[in-house]
Amino acid sequence: MPRSDTTHSRPAWYFREYAPVGIDLGSTAAVAAYDRNQGTDFDADDALLDRLGVTERSCLIDLACGTGSLTVQAARRGAVAHGVDVSEEMLTFAQARAEQFGVSPHWHRAGFLDYAHCGPLADVVTTKSALHQLPDFWKQQALCKAAGMLRPGGTFYLWDVIFSFEPTSAEERLQQWIETAGRPEGEGFTKSDFEVHVRDEFSTYAWIIEGMLQRAGFDIITSAFPRPTHAEFYCRRR
Ligand SMILES: C[S@@+](CC[C@H](N)C(=O)[O-])C[C@H]1O[C@@H](n2cnc3c(N)ncnc32)[C@H](O)[C@@H]1O
Repeated sequence: MPRSDTTHSRPAWYFREYAPVGIDLGSTAAVAAYDRNQGTDFDADDALLDRLGVTERSCLIDLACGTGSLTVQAARRGAVAHGVDVSEEMLTFAQARAEQFGVSPHWHRAGFLDYAHCGPLADVVTTKSALHQLPDFWKQQALCKAAGMLRPGGTFYLWDVIFSFEPTSAEERLQQWIETAGRPEGEGFTKSDFEVHVRDEFSTYAWIIEGMLQRAGFDIITSAFPRPTHAEFYCRRR
C-alpha cells in the first residue's frame, strides 16, 4: 500500500510537529531499539482492540502509530486501519511488519495536527504514548482534530504518560518513577530516557487532559490511572 504524505506549509507560528522532540527515534537502529524496549505485545494489542469493539466492519485510525503493531493487528482482523506518524523511519518499520503478516493498512506520513482524513469518518481513533509530544495548547488542537475524524458516538482511546499525583509531590514522584523504571543500557528504556522525557517532552496532569477531552467534544466513559505517571482515557465522541 503506497504511503500518503500530507506535509505542507503552515504559518510561521505553527507548531513544528516534524521536528524531533525528546528521545532520539530518528534512525532505523533507534526505531528497532524503540520497538524492543516498548515490548510490542500482539496479545495486548488484541485485548485493546476487543475492548474498543474493533471488528472487520470498523475503521480505525491510530495517531502516532510508531512501529505499527496496533494498526497491523486491526488490519489482521479485517478492519480498515490507518496508521499515521510523522516519522519516515517508524512508517518503514510498520510497513515491513504489515507485509510480514500479509496485510495492507493505510500508512500516512502526517502528524496529529496536519493529518487530513479522507473517506468515511472513523469508528475508533487511538493514540498511545505520543500525545505528550505536543505542548498543551497543541494537544488541545490535536484532540479537536481527532474528534473531527470520528463519527458521532465513535470511540477515542488515549494512553500516555499523564500525571495524577499532587503537584506538591511532583519532584518526589518523578524521581521515584525515573529510579524504578530505568533499565540498564540494552535492556529497555534507561534512566536517561525517562529524564529526557520529563525534561524535554510535554507530559501533563490528568485534570488538564480531562478538560481538554471535554472541550474537544468527548465524553469520558472510563479513565484509569494504573500508576501515578500513566493514564488511559476511554471516550465517546458526542
Ligand atoms: C513513543 S512513540 C509511540 C508509538 C506508538 N504509538 C506506541 O504505542 O508504541 C511516539 C511516536 O509519536 C510520533 N510522533 C511524534 N510527534 C508526532 C506528531 N506530532 N504527530 C504524529 N506522530 C508523532 C513519533 O514519530 C513516534 O512514532
